[in-house]
Amino acid sequence: MAEAPFTPRVFSGIQPSGNLHLGNYLGALKRFVDWQDRDVETIFCMVDMHAITVWQDPAALAHSTRELAAGFIAAGIDPEKSTLINQSQVPEHAQLAWIFNCVARMGWMGRMTQWKDKAGKNAEAASLGLFAYPALMAADILIYHATHVPVGEDQKQHIELTRDIAAKFNHDYGVEFFPLTEPVIEGAATRVMSLRDGTKKMSKSDPSDASRINMTDDADTIARKIRRAKTDPEPLPETYEGLKDRPDARNLVNIYAALSDRDVADVMAECGGQQFGQFKPALADLAVEKLAPISAEMARLMRDPGEIDRILARGAERARAISAPILDETYRIIGMVR
Ligand code: AMP
Ligand code: TRP
Repeated sequence: MAEAPFTPRVFSGIQPSGNLHLGNYLGALKRFVDWQDRDVETIFCMVDMHAITVWQDPAALAHSTRELAAGFIAAGIDPEKSTLINQSQVPEHAQLAWIFNCVARMGWMGRMTQWKDKAGKNAEAASLGLFAYPALMAADILIYHATHVPVGEDQKQHIELTRDIAAKFNHDYGVEFFPLTEPVIEGAATRVMSLRDGTKKMSKSDPSDASRINMTDDADTIARKIRRAKTDPEPLPETYEGLKDRPDARNLVNIYAALSDRDVADVMAECGGQQFGQFKPALADLAVEKLAPISAEMARLMRDPGEIDRILARGAERARAISAPILDETYRIIGMVR
């Protein structure tokens, strides 16, 4: 474990591709805030260069990037405490990504489940960027020598690849330069599922808006989506194990636990035996209580996009103070004339 010589530093990123949802909040943003409030350096990133691995309308990309920045801040990220950046404003990410393109192997990339899912049967028509996506992600993390990356379950394989790239670079150049980053996947909501199908992950790209709670939804919409969430006819069981084969019910319990910062056993002790007619309204109230202020704050921040741009410019400056020397040293190790 090449961790000892590296100061703990947390990095994570989210794509500005619209429809920021409850899964992003519980699986990512809310946990970023927990990290920020511990005594550790934190860097959070809008990954706009990842977003364009599939076509993005230019005006929509700019809007989604600012909206995501507003989402980070509304969720509790303080741009004074954390470094908040937009990926393309820190060019060292892309520069290191090229080097990692030359370290990572085609076979490694071809095994990524996100690539297989997104490219689907028509891989020939997918962008080269979509294939190389995980090498850019490794660069996002390693350009800061980040040691811990909080993410949802779906990103675990990409962090493992990041470790493989770091290890191969260190081995090929005979250095201990890049850390072996740890994924941090914890809490009751590392995988929030669709409200319409508890076997599918809640996702930005699901064509059904009813499948997710968007962070921009107002109180009525949030409550309505929860009331209409798919469930089964049984009451909640007494124990969490009783939810094993009930993905829709389990998802709602996980969401309840994560929103209320409690563990699932605790929630079952309180809600076991309840009918959904009782549980859903309680969940809807909780979701509105937690999310409506965030969506209202996002809307307020979006009224002043100039201020968001100033925050991101300051973030980029702070980030480059870390990333530029690490890139320089990488070039030196490789033998590039500077
Ligand atoms: P993305 O929206 O794909 O850029 O994801 C941004 C962050 O949100 C990553 O840490 C993901 O793992 C996390 N995330 C996305 N969807 C979910 C979900 N349904 N449940 C939990 N975490 C999620
Ligand atoms: N691939 C991540 C996702 O889709 C987003 C991402 C890009 C990221 N770079 C990162 C997450 C670096 C953590 C660290 O969710």
